[in-house]
Amino acid sequence: MKHFGLKNVLPKKARNAFYKTKHYMTILVVGASGATGKQLVEQLLIKKHNIKVIVRSPEKLPESWKSNDNLQIIAASILDLNDEAMRKHVADCDAIASCLGHNLTWKGVYGQPRKLVTDAARRLCDAVKTNAPKKPVKYVLMNTTGNRNRDLKEPISFAQKCVIGLLRLLLPPHVDNEKAADYLRTQIGQNNAFIEWAAVRPDNLIDEDQVTDYETHASPTRSAIFNAGKTSRINVGHFMANLISDATLWTTWKGQMPVIYNKSAAE
Ligand SMILES: NC(=O)c1ccc[n+]([C@@H]2O[C@H](COP(=O)([O-])OP(=O)(O)OC[C@H]3O[C@@H](n4cnc5c(N)ncnc54)[C@H](OP(=O)(O)O)[C@@H]3O)[C@@H](O)[C@H]2O)c1
Repeated sequence: MKHFGLKNVLPKKARNAFYKTKHYMTILVVGASGATGKQLVEQLLIKKHNIKVIVRSPEKLPESWKSNDNLQIIAASILDLNDEAMRKHVADCDAIASCLGHNLTWKGVYGQPRKLVTDAARRLCDAVKTNAPKKPVKYVLMNTTGNRNRDLKEPISFAQKCVIGLLRLLLPPHVDNEKAADYLRTQIGQNNAFIEWAAVRPDNLIDEDQVTDYETHASPTRSAIFNAGKTSRINVGHFMANLISDATLWTTWKGQMPVIYNKSAAE
């Protein structure tokens, strides 16, 4: 049966022009080959945005992505790109989302790059600033409830403070996650002409097939160490995609570090 979707009736250039008039966005996703990154890209594709992914291992990506006209796959390791390439890749982007995380292997946790998430945020934001876009670009960082939003002076118990201190000593990826959010909070700040940001904080990540009910809060409502809740990766992808696409939701959370829990795990 013949389909009369845009793909069949318009050449790519005309399709892209049409998408622009429909307010579809161009979004760069880094960490797109990861468990959450894949979910985020799927959610953005459902919304018909134009997606670019920079991945060092394209073979890990779903086959369907390779023939998707709305998706551009750039094969590179993010921190190996030079400044000029970074600037080129972000030049047409309305938003950048990072689901980067250290692989849970000895090399991933204790080897280089120790500051993967922070350095990617800094270099991508530097590239945006150099391009000086007319409208601020959104930077959405996947972070963790193990990190506090120091703007809000979030209280934690003495016991949790001790455990987090230990994690900082033993787990470099935890420090990287903290520094990445701190970079956005203190270096980009709340009034940057070129970048607006949000750092999404899921609790213990789980895998589920479907988007389910979830709740978002400005700060954790339970202890990330002693009473952790659950957050499914697909819900993280759903929330990050909505943050990017929905202007009202963005206004609610920009410059903040929303916490996300699955509703079923909230009791
Ligand atoms: N586990 C939890 O319960 C939990 C809870 C809250 C927050 N988090 C945080 O959530 C984030 C993502 O979690 P996830 O489970 O979705 O992660 P994941 O599946 O391990 O994905 C990590 C992504 O980062 C990329 N990456 C790793 N090292 C890289 C390097 N040196 N250069 C370039 N890319 C690199 C991976 O690329 P490759 O595919 O090429 O390796 C992959 O795309 C992490 O920062 C984690 O700390 C985790």
